[in-house]
Amino acid sequence: MAIVNEKQYSNESFLAVWKIEESHDELQALLPSEILTDAELAGISHAQKQIEFFCSRLTIKYLADKLGIEYLGIKKDQYGKPFLVGSDWQFSLTHTAEYVAVVMHKYLPLGIDMERPSEKLQKIAHKFLSYAERADAAGDLDKLCIYWSAKEALYKLYGKRKVIFNDNLLIAPFSINQQVINGRLKINEIDQTYQIFVEKIDKYYLVAVC
Ligand SMILES: CC(C)(COP(=O)(O)OP(=O)(O)OC[C@H]1O[C@@H](n2cnc3c(N)ncnc32)[C@H](O)[C@@H]1OP(=O)(O)O)[C@@H](O)C(=O)NCCC(=O)NCCS
Repeated sequence: MAIVNEKQYSNESFLAVWKIEESHDELQALLPSEILTDAELAGISHAQKQIEFFCSRLTIKYLADKLGIEYLGIKKDQYGKPFLVGSDWQFSLTHTAEYVAVVMHKYLPLGIDMERPSEKLQKIAHKFLSYAERADAAGDLDKLCIYWSAKEALYKLYGKRKVIFNDNLLIAPFSINQQVINGRLKINEIDQTYQIFVEKIDKYYLVAVC
């Protein structure tokens, strides 16, 4: 197993991070048919995407086994939000070319994202940041990356479409070394604040709302 990071955020929420080092065939061989169905694999044509998919399923299975959850497969709802078949446990996942990360909570929805700072975030900052958030980020690529990932994680927690990132998802000002930041989901009848956990793994920021 290539789990490189595990932690518990609370009594009921758990993280596992897989570093992708195995070949496509090695990973596929680790997946029994009850985890990897032909139908699931048929929908993913790109080899790298298959690798990330294999690792996501292996990481979910790893956490399920550790937490005593019977793994009966994964399905997605009408918005694409994944859920564990036959279980109240909630989960969220993110994949990059090098890592896959999964968080699970016994019953509450949660969200996770992993991104690396990149110039492209400067170009779209006005689309995903409020005026106050842009002022706080002040063009800093690391802060922009944390803002983006925190909002992607909040988006996954919510799980539905028609979310306006610079209005419905809000992040309180933070400093670059802060490990817990505050976020707010404000949409329709929902107005909820969340603690958001931030850590750096290699060149990536791992951000989890859980
Ligand atoms: C769905 C989305 C959040 C995925 O994020 P990403 O950075 O591309 O990819 P990640 O690897 O981090 O996450 C992918 C996982 O998100 C999960 N996901 C997809 N749709 C989801 C939803 N509606 N709710 C919760 N999780 C979802 C899936 O598990 C998916 O992995 P899988 O397909 O292997 O099961 C993203 O593509 C998206 O749609 N973001 C919102 C777009 C938007 O409105 N942007 C406007 C900004 S101005």
